[in-house]
Amino acid sequence: MNSQPLGLDVGTSRIVLAAPSTETTGDAGIGIQGPAYQFRSQLNAFVRLPFTRITEGVLKKENVPYSVQGQEIVVHGNEAEMFADLLGKEMRRPMRGGVLNASEPEGETQLRQIMESLLGNSEPRKIYYSVPAAPAGNEDSVTYHETAIRHLLQQLGHEVKSINEGLAVVYSELEDSNYTGIGVSCGGGLCNVCLSYLSVPVLSFSIAKAGDFIDASASQATGELANRIRITKESDFYFNGHFSDRVKQVLSVFYDDMIQALVVGMKDAFSASKAMPKFGRRIPMVLSGGSAMPNGFLDRFRTALNASDFPISLSEIRLANDPLHATAKGALLAALSE
Ligand SMILES: Nc1ncnc2c1ncn2[C@@H]1O[C@H](COP(=O)(O)OP(=O)(O)OP(=O)(O)O)[C@@H](O)[C@H]1O
Ligand SMILES: [Mg+2]
Repeated sequence: MNSQPLGLDVGTSRIVLAAPSTETTGDAGIGIQGPAYQFRSQLNAFVRLPFTRITEGVLKKENVPYSVQGQEIVVHGNEAEMFADLLGKEMRRPMRGGVLNASEPEGETQLRQIMESLLGNSEPRKIYYSVPAAPAGNEDSVTYHETAIRHLLQQLGHEVKSINEGLAVVYSELEDSNYTGIGVSCGGGLCNVCLSYLSVPVLSFSIAKAGDFIDASASQATGELANRIRITKESDFYFNGHFSDRVKQVLSVFYDDMIQALVVGMKDAFSASKAMPKFGRRIPMVLSGGSAMPNGFLDRFRTALNASDFPISLSEIRLANDPLHATAKGALLAALSE
Protein backbone atom coordinates (compact mmCIF):
# COMPACT_ATOMS: atom_id res chain seq x y z
CA MET A 1 0.00 0.00 0.00
CA ASN A 2 2.01 2.98 -1.25
CA SER A 3 -0.64 5.64 -1.69
CA GLN A 4 -1.23 8.44 0.78
CA PRO A 5 -3.53 7.84 3.75
CA LEU A 6 -6.90 9.52 4.20
CA GLY A 7 -8.87 10.94 7.12
CA LEU A 8 -12.61 10.37 7.23
CA ASP A 9 -15.03 12.16 9.52
CA VAL A 10 -18.08 9.92 9.77
CA GLY A 11 -20.51 12.52 11.07
CA THR A 12 -24.24 12.38 11.76
CA SER A 13 -24.69 15.36 9.51
CA ARG A 14 -21.77 15.14 7.07
CA ILE A 15 -19.16 12.71 5.87
CA VAL A 16 -15.91 14.57 5.27
CA LEU A 17 -12.88 13.11 3.52
CA ALA A 18 -9.46 14.70 4.02
CA ALA A 19 -6.45 13.97 1.81
CA PRO A 20 -3.01 15.50 1.45
CA SER A 21 -3.54 18.17 -1.20
CA THR A 22 -1.18 16.70 -3.76
CA GLU A 23 -3.97 14.57 -5.16
CA THR A 24 -7.70 14.04 -5.42
CA THR A 25 -9.82 11.00 -4.73
CA GLY A 26 -13.40 10.18 -5.63
CA ASP A 27 -15.64 11.55 -8.27
CA ALA A 28 -18.27 13.45 -6.35
CA GLY A 29 -18.55 15.93 -3.52
CA ILE A 30 -17.26 19.38 -2.96
CA GLY A 31 -13.50 19.75 -3.26
CA ILE A 32 -12.05 22.62 -1.27
CA GLN A 33 -8.42 23.44 -1.79
CA GLY A 34 -6.49 24.25 1.40
CA PRO A 35 -2.80 24.93 1.68
CA ALA A 36 -1.83 21.38 2.60
CA TYR A 37 -5.02 19.36 2.74
CA GLN A 38 -7.96 18.86 0.50
CA PHE A 39 -11.49 18.14 1.69
CA ARG A 40 -14.58 16.66 0.09
CA SER A 41 -17.88 16.28 1.85
CA GLN A 42 -21.37 14.97 1.37
CA LEU A 43 -24.39 15.30 3.60
CA ASN A 44 -25.05 12.05 5.39
CA ALA A 45 -28.62 11.90 4.13
CA PHE A 46 -30.77 10.63 1.30
CA VAL A 47 -34.16 11.12 -0.26
CA ARG A 48 -36.26 9.03 -2.64
CA LEU A 49 -37.64 10.52 -5.87
CA PRO A 50 -39.86 8.94 -8.51
CA PHE A 51 -37.75 7.50 -11.33
CA THR A 52 -37.77 9.23 -14.70
CA ARG A 53 -35.09 9.01 -17.36
CA ILE A 54 -34.85 12.79 -17.47
CA THR A 55 -34.18 13.06 -13.75
CA GLU A 56 -31.60 10.32 -13.93
CA GLY A 57 -29.88 11.99 -16.89
CA VAL A 58 -29.66 15.33 -15.14
CA LEU A 59 -28.34 13.83 -11.91
CA LYS A 60 -25.66 12.03 -13.87
CA LYS A 61 -24.72 15.18 -15.76
CA GLU A 62 -24.52 17.20 -12.55
CA ASN A 63 -22.41 14.53 -10.83
CA VAL A 64 -25.01 14.07 -8.08
CA PRO A 65 -24.59 10.72 -6.30
CA TYR A 66 -27.69 8.55 -6.74
CA SER A 67 -28.80 4.98 -7.22
CA VAL A 68 -31.85 3.53 -8.95
CA GLN A 69 -34.09 1.19 -6.98
CA GLY A 70 -37.07 -0.06 -8.92
CA GLN A 71 -39.34 2.87 -9.73
CA GLU A 72 -37.37 5.25 -7.52
CA ILE A 73 -34.14 7.17 -7.57
CA VAL A 74 -32.31 7.50 -4.28
CA VAL A 75 -30.37 10.77 -4.15
CA HIS A 76 -27.54 10.70 -1.62
CA GLY A 77 -25.54 13.47 -0.08
CA ASN A 78 -25.67 17.23 -0.56
CA GLU A 79 -28.56 17.41 -3.00
CA ALA A 80 -30.84 15.43 -0.66
CA GLU A 81 -31.44 18.58 1.37
CA MET A 82 -32.72 20.63 -1.55
CA PHE A 83 -34.87 17.84 -2.98
CA ALA A 84 -36.42 17.14 0.43
CA ASP A 85 -37.16 20.83 0.83
CA LEU A 86 -38.72 21.11 -2.62
CA LEU A 87 -40.86 18.05 -1.97
CA GLY A 88 -41.88 19.29 1.48
CA LYS A 89 -40.50 16.29 3.32
CA GLU A 90 -37.67 15.38 5.67
CA MET A 91 -34.38 13.89 4.49
CA ARG A 92 -33.72 10.37 5.69
CA ARG A 93 -30.63 9.99 7.84
CA PRO A 94 -28.33 6.95 8.10
CA MET A 95 -27.02 8.15 11.46
CA ARG A 96 -28.55 9.66 14.56
CA GLY A 97 -26.91 10.88 17.76
CA GLY A 98 -23.39 10.22 16.45
CA VAL A 99 -23.98 6.56 15.51
CA LEU A 100 -25.83 4.41 12.99
CA ASN A 101 -29.53 5.13 13.20
CA ALA A 102 -31.18 1.94 14.49
CA SER A 103 -34.59 3.08 13.29
CA GLU A 104 -33.47 3.66 9.68
CA PRO A 105 -33.58 0.22 7.98
CA GLU A 106 -31.61 1.45 4.97
CA GLY A 107 -29.02 3.31 7.04
CA GLU A 108 -26.00 1.10 6.44
CA THR A 109 -26.76 0.59 2.75
CA GLN A 110 -27.15 4.29 2.07
CA LEU A 111 -24.15 5.24 4.18
CA ARG A 112 -22.09 2.83 2.10
CA GLN A 113 -23.29 4.56 -1.07
CA ILE A 114 -22.27 7.96 0.29
CA MET A 115 -18.84 6.64 1.30
CA GLU A 116 -18.39 5.08 -2.12
CA SER A 117 -19.24 8.33 -3.86
CA LEU A 118 -16.61 10.14 -1.79
CA LEU A 119 -13.92 7.49 -2.08
CA GLY A 120 -14.58 6.70 -5.74
CA ASN A 121 -12.67 3.73 -7.04
CA SER A 122 -9.75 4.50 -4.81
CA GLU A 123 -7.09 1.84 -4.54
CA PRO A 124 -6.61 0.41 -1.02
CA ARG A 125 -5.70 3.15 1.45
CA LYS A 126 -4.92 3.54 5.07
CA ILE A 127 -7.96 5.39 6.42
CA TYR A 128 -8.44 6.79 9.91
CA TYR A 129 -12.12 7.36 10.61
CA SER A 130 -13.71 9.28 13.46
CA VAL A 131 -15.90 7.72 16.12
CA PRO A 132 -17.69 9.62 18.83
CA ALA A 133 -17.15 9.15 22.53
CA ALA A 134 -20.10 7.38 24.11
CA PRO A 135 -22.76 9.51 25.71
CA ALA A 136 -22.98 8.61 29.41
CA GLY A 137 -25.10 5.50 29.86
CA ASN A 138 -25.08 4.47 26.19
CA GLU A 139 -21.64 2.86 25.72
CA ASP A 140 -22.80 -0.06 23.56
CA SER A 141 -24.15 2.18 20.80
CA VAL A 142 -20.63 3.29 19.92
CA THR A 143 -19.17 -0.23 20.03
CA TYR A 144 -21.57 -1.49 17.36
CA HIS A 145 -21.22 1.64 15.25
CA GLU A 146 -17.43 1.54 15.30
CA THR A 147 -17.37 -2.09 14.18
CA ALA A 148 -19.98 -1.62 11.46
CA ILE A 149 -18.09 1.34 9.94
CA ARG A 150 -14.82 -0.58 10.12
CA HIS A 151 -16.35 -3.52 8.24
CA LEU A 152 -17.88 -1.24 5.66
CA LEU A 153 -14.55 0.43 4.89
CA GLN A 154 -12.72 -2.90 4.91
CA GLN A 155 -15.22 -4.28 2.42
CA LEU A 156 -14.31 -1.35 0.17
CA GLY A 157 -10.73 -2.64 0.38
CA HIS A 158 -9.15 -0.22 2.85
CA GLU A 159 -6.98 -0.67 5.90
CA VAL A 160 -8.76 1.19 8.66
CA LYS A 161 -8.35 2.44 12.17
CA SER A 162 -10.66 4.55 14.30
CA ILE A 163 -9.86 7.75 16.15
CA ASN A 164 -11.92 9.51 18.79
CA GLU A 165 -13.54 12.63 17.36
CA GLY A 166 -12.49 15.03 20.15
CA LEU A 167 -8.90 13.78 19.91
CA ALA A 168 -8.97 14.37 16.15
CA VAL A 169 -9.91 18.00 16.88
CA VAL A 170 -6.94 18.24 19.27
CA TYR A 171 -4.59 16.87 16.56
CA SER A 172 -6.00 19.30 14.04
CA GLU A 173 -5.93 22.46 16.16
CA LEU A 174 -3.57 22.19 19.13
CA GLU A 175 -0.12 21.55 17.70
CA ASP A 176 1.11 24.83 19.26
CA SER A 177 0.43 23.54 22.76
CA ASN A 178 1.94 20.13 21.99
CA TYR A 179 -1.54 18.67 21.83
CA THR A 180 -2.36 19.65 25.38
CA GLY A 181 -5.80 21.14 25.76
CA ILE A 182 -9.49 20.52 25.24
CA GLY A 183 -10.89 19.75 21.77
CA VAL A 184 -14.63 20.15 21.31
CA SER A 185 -16.68 19.30 18.26
CA CYS A 186 -20.24 20.69 18.23
CA GLY A 187 -21.83 18.58 15.52
CA GLY A 188 -25.24 17.45 14.38
CA GLY A 189 -25.86 14.48 16.65
CA LEU A 190 -23.46 15.12 19.51
CA CYS A 191 -21.00 17.48 21.07
CA ASN A 192 -17.75 15.55 21.52
CA VAL A 193 -15.17 16.62 24.08
CA CYS A 194 -11.63 15.37 24.61
CA LEU A 195 -9.10 16.53 27.17
CA SER A 196 -5.63 15.68 25.95
CA TYR A 197 -2.29 15.91 27.75
CA LEU A 198 0.73 15.87 25.40
CA SER A 199 -1.38 14.10 22.76
CA VAL A 200 -2.68 11.43 25.16
CA PRO A 201 -6.47 11.44 25.56
CA VAL A 202 -7.12 11.70 29.29
CA LEU A 203 -10.90 12.04 29.25
CA SER A 204 -13.38 11.86 26.35
CA PHE A 205 -17.14 12.06 26.45
CA SER A 206 -20.07 13.36 24.46
CA ILE A 207 -23.20 15.33 25.16
CA ALA A 208 -26.33 14.31 23.30
CA LYS A 209 -27.57 17.83 22.52
CA ALA A 210 -26.27 19.29 19.25
CA GLY A 211 -27.55 20.65 15.92
CA ASP A 212 -30.21 17.98 15.37
CA PHE A 213 -31.59 18.61 18.84
CA ILE A 214 -31.91 22.32 17.98
CA ASP A 215 -33.63 21.56 14.65
CA ALA A 216 -36.02 18.97 16.09
CA SER A 217 -36.95 21.13 19.08
CA ALA A 218 -37.47 24.22 16.93
CA SER A 219 -39.51 22.11 14.53
CA GLN A 220 -41.79 20.99 17.35
CA ALA A 221 -42.18 24.50 18.67
CA THR A 222 -42.99 26.10 15.32
CA GLY A 223 -44.57 23.33 13.25
CA GLU A 224 -41.98 23.79 10.46
CA LEU A 225 -40.13 20.80 9.03
CA ALA A 226 -36.76 20.21 10.73
CA ASN A 227 -35.06 20.27 7.32
CA ARG A 228 -36.45 23.77 6.67
CA ILE A 229 -35.36 24.94 10.12
CA ARG A 230 -31.89 23.65 9.45
CA ILE A 231 -31.66 25.53 6.16
CA THR A 232 -32.68 28.78 7.91
CA LYS A 233 -30.25 28.11 10.77
CA GLU A 234 -27.33 27.52 8.42
CA SER A 235 -28.06 30.40 6.08
CA ASP A 236 -28.96 33.32 8.29
CA PHE A 237 -29.02 32.67 11.99
CA TYR A 238 -26.68 34.55 14.34
CA PHE A 239 -26.67 35.41 18.05
CA ASN A 240 -27.77 38.59 19.79
CA GLY A 241 -30.17 39.55 17.02
CA HIS A 242 -33.52 41.08 17.96
CA PHE A 243 -35.48 38.78 15.72
CA SER A 244 -39.02 39.51 14.73
CA ASP A 245 -38.88 36.16 12.96
CA ARG A 246 -40.33 33.46 15.23
CA VAL A 247 -38.13 30.64 13.91
CA LYS A 248 -34.99 32.58 14.76
CA GLN A 249 -36.28 33.45 18.24
CA VAL A 250 -36.96 29.79 18.84
CA LEU A 251 -33.57 28.78 17.40
CA SER A 252 -31.78 31.05 19.83
CA VAL A 253 -33.67 29.53 22.79
CA PHE A 254 -32.65 25.98 21.87
CA TYR A 255 -29.12 27.03 20.96
CA ASP A 256 -28.76 28.43 24.48
CA ASP A 257 -30.11 25.15 25.81
CA MET A 258 -27.43 23.25 23.88
CA ILE A 259 -24.65 25.56 25.10
CA GLN A 260 -25.84 25.20 28.67
CA ALA A 261 -25.93 21.39 28.39
CA LEU A 262 -22.42 21.38 26.97
CA VAL A 263 -20.98 23.64 29.65
CA VAL A 264 -22.69 21.77 32.49
CA GLY A 265 -21.69 18.40 30.97
CA MET A 266 -18.04 19.47 30.73
CA LYS A 267 -17.99 20.95 34.19
CA ASP A 268 -19.50 17.81 35.72
CA ALA A 269 -17.25 15.41 33.80
CA PHE A 270 -14.04 17.30 34.56
CA SER A 271 -14.98 17.84 38.21
CA ALA A 272 -15.78 14.15 38.68
CA SER A 273 -12.71 12.74 36.92
CA LYS A 274 -10.04 11.20 39.12
CA ALA A 275 -7.67 10.97 36.15
CA MET A 276 -7.32 14.73 35.82
CA PRO A 277 -3.67 15.73 35.52
CA LYS A 278 -2.50 18.69 37.59
CA PHE A 279 -1.60 21.04 34.76
CA GLY A 280 1.20 23.40 35.70
CA ARG A 281 -0.19 25.97 33.28
CA ARG A 282 -3.39 27.11 31.69
CA ILE A 283 -4.54 25.09 28.72
CA PRO A 284 -6.41 26.06 25.53
CA MET A 285 -9.89 25.00 24.48
CA VAL A 286 -10.83 24.89 20.82
CA LEU A 287 -14.37 24.63 19.44
CA SER A 288 -15.12 23.08 16.06
CA GLY A 289 -18.05 21.51 14.20
CA GLY A 290 -20.90 23.06 12.23
CA SER A 291 -22.89 24.00 15.30
CA ALA A 292 -20.09 26.32 16.47
CA MET A 293 -20.35 28.38 13.28
CA PRO A 294 -23.07 30.99 13.75
CA ASN A 295 -21.78 34.49 14.43
CA GLY A 296 -21.74 35.18 18.13
CA PHE A 297 -21.53 31.51 19.17
CA LEU A 298 -18.06 31.87 20.66
CA ASP A 299 -19.06 34.85 22.83
CA ARG A 300 -22.18 33.10 24.00
CA PHE A 301 -20.22 29.98 24.87
CA ARG A 302 -17.50 31.95 26.69
CA THR A 303 -20.07 33.80 28.77
CA ALA A 304 -21.76 30.54 29.77
CA LEU A 305 -18.45 28.89 30.61
CA ASN A 306 -17.17 31.85 32.62
CA ALA A 307 -20.36 31.81 34.67
CA SER A 308 -19.98 28.11 35.42
CA ASP A 309 -17.13 27.80 37.92
CA PHE A 310 -15.27 25.67 35.40
CA PRO A 311 -12.70 23.43 37.15
CA ILE A 312 -9.81 23.88 34.65
CA SER A 313 -7.87 27.14 34.05
CA LEU A 314 -8.01 27.99 30.37
CA SER A 315 -5.49 30.09 28.47
CA GLU A 316 -7.98 30.77 25.67
CA ILE A 317 -11.22 29.61 24.11
CA ARG A 318 -11.21 29.87 20.34
CA LEU A 319 -12.82 28.56 17.20
CA ALA A 320 -11.07 26.13 14.87
CA ASN A 321 -9.83 27.73 11.64
CA ASP A 322 -12.09 25.55 9.56
CA PRO A 323 -14.78 24.16 11.88
CA LEU A 324 -16.43 21.80 9.37
CA HIS A 325 -13.16 20.08 8.47
CA ALA A 326 -11.25 19.89 11.76
CA THR A 327 -12.24 16.29 12.61
CA ALA A 328 -11.32 14.94 9.15
CA LYS A 329 -8.04 16.87 9.18
CA GLY A 330 -7.15 15.49 12.63
CA ALA A 331 -7.93 11.96 11.48
CA LEU A 332 -5.67 12.49 8.46
CA LEU A 333 -2.86 13.86 10.65
CA ALA A 334 -3.14 10.78 12.87
CA ALA A 335 -2.91 8.53 9.80
CA LEU A 336 0.04 10.47 8.37
CA SER A 337 1.92 10.27 11.66
CA GLU A 338 2.00 6.46 11.67
N1 LIG B 1 -23.04 27.72 8.85
C1 LIG B 1 -23.70 27.06 9.79
N2 LIG B 1 -24.37 27.74 10.75
C2 LIG B 1 -25.05 27.08 11.70
N3 LIG B 1 -25.11 25.76 11.80
C3 LIG B 1 -24.45 25.05 10.90
C4 LIG B 1 -23.72 25.65 9.84
N4 LIG B 1 -23.17 24.67 9.08
C5 LIG B 1 -23.56 23.51 9.65
N5 LIG B 1 -24.33 23.74 10.73
C6 LIG B 1 -24.94 22.74 11.63
O1 LIG B 1 -23.91 21.97 12.19
C7 LIG B 1 -24.36 20.65 12.40
C8 LIG B 1 -23.42 19.70 11.68
O2 LIG B 1 -22.12 19.89 12.13
P1 LIG B 1 -20.98 18.85 11.74
O3 LIG B 1 -20.90 18.74 10.27
O4 LIG B 1 -19.77 19.25 12.50
O5 LIG B 1 -21.64 17.52 12.35
P2 LIG B 1 -21.26 16.01 12.16
O6 LIG B 1 -19.80 15.84 12.37
O7 LIG B 1 -21.80 15.49 10.90
O8 LIG B 1 -22.10 15.37 13.35
P3 LIG B 1 -21.63 14.57 14.66
O9 LIG B 1 -20.21 14.92 14.94
O10 LIG B 1 -22.57 15.02 15.74
O11 LIG B 1 -21.82 13.13 14.33
C9 LIG B 1 -25.76 20.56 11.81
O12 LIG B 1 -26.70 20.67 12.85
C10 LIG B 1 -25.80 21.74 10.87
O13 LIG B 1 -27.13 22.23 10.71
MG1 LIG C 1 -18.63 15.57 13.96
